[in-house]
Amino acid sequence: MRGIRFPDEFMWGVSASAYQIEGAWAEDGKGESIWDRFCHIPGNVANGDTGDIACDHYHRYKDDIALMRQLGIRFYRFSISWPRIQPYGHGKINQKGIKFYNDLINCMLENGIQPFAVLYHWDLPQALQNKGGWANRETAEYFKDYARIVFNEFGDRVRHWITILEPQVIAYNGNWMGNMAPGIRDFSTALEVSHNLMRGHGLAVREFKKMGLDGKIGIINMHPKAYPASNSSEDMAAANRFDGAWCRWYLDPLCHGHYPDDMMVWYQSHGVVLPEIIEDDMDMISTPIDFMGINYYTSKWFKEGNDLWPLMIEKAKPPVEKFTMMDWAIYPLGFYHSLMRVSENYKNEIIVMENGGAFNDIVSEDGEINDVDRIEYLRSHITAMHQAIKEGANVKGYFIWSILDNFEWAYGCQKRFGLIYVDYKDQKRIIKRSGHLYRNVMEKNGIGN
Ligand code: FCB
Repeated sequence: MRGIRFPDEFMWGVSASAYQIEGAWAEDGKGESIWDRFCHIPGNVANGDTGDIACDHYHRYKDDIALMRQLGIRFYRFSISWPRIQPYGHGKINQKGIKFYNDLINCMLENGIQPFAVLYHWDLPQALQNKGGWANRETAEYFKDYARIVFNEFGDRVRHWITILEPQVIAYNGNWMGNMAPGIRDFSTALEVSHNLMRGHGLAVREFKKMGLDGKIGIINMHPKAYPASNSSEDMAAANRFDGAWCRWYLDPLCHGHYPDDMMVWYQSHGVVLPEIIEDDMDMISTPIDFMGINYYTSKWFKEGNDLWPLMIEKAKPPVEKFTMMDWAIYPLGFYHSLMRVSENYKNEIIVMENGGAFNDIVSEDGEINDVDRIEYLRSHITAMHQAIKEGANVKGYFIWSILDNFEWAYGCQKRFGLIYVDYKDQKRIIKRSGHLYRNVMEKNGIGN
């Protein structure tokens, strides 16, 4: 294969999140989160797995950072657990939580690794859920207060901040499908949640700018590309509605200051209670950001149907042969299309903050993991991203999900996404072949010769 190279200063990184790796769920003054609560209810998570221990990263972070250094990683996106900082989501600050993240950030810097800090990767303090969670407007104000604490404590060393990660997953999986915490199943609640998440985002961005800190701030959206199952106008409309609910409902307010008209009309005519929009909500939400984070794993195909009320669409079989262990279609072209679309319609610097795949990793007798499927997945997606950059997409960086195998939410610990294998019996780590490949990509700033 002919080699490809990326622009100078391109940021190659890896990602993980607090609940999925830290463990220590009730240690050192941490409060309960909605994920702690959700996992402790039998039947919610495959095999009864929880994040109680996960990768025990809370106790092993030094070793994990040493492994990152060994792989030549220079950018690491982690998340801060809100209930570790504020056990009840407001008021009291837990100094041991502050100390943990201070130590973690210092350890990264000592090892030449730049931190990208996510303020919210899904672990809302349960005490706030008890007051209505993100469906309550006040949660956005509490989020701003929490953001200020964190900016104050770590803003002298962290140069890249992300407010909210995947508001669509939080709103829809958590509050419409109910297959993620807090396990609510109500579409109107989900829209209320989406509105307050975006308000919380805007409030935090304004706070950050007001504090005059040196650094950049953005948000991360999840971007599957939605295709119609056929060329019929019904199927095209179905795909467009999924895109409207999943992508445009978030990106239009963020970049254009209003919800998409077609979706507003559709929801009104289908009996959905729309979120209350007051005062300067939309100005707040569209406060300019410094970069747009994008997560891409797969694409989806839709036809018109009676599923997924109120969208009235049905999932169609993807026209591809290969799927990951999550049953997600492997479709790098969708990655290219998503990047081009975001870059054309929502002018901003783009950073790909997650891309990767779960595969059936097998440890060989000599203790190695030759994860060829993951290698192929990463190569094909990096190549697709390169094409988008060549055609003008302003992509500044690419982060792999994930540095470590970890607790994959409702799927439990069996879906492995890591560049590093974790044996949950004894917490032993093994660098997979994809990890070594990535080292090479980072060194060369590209793939091939
Ligand atoms: C994303 C999440 C991340 C992980 C990957 C597989 O939606 O941000 O935590 O679960 O999917």
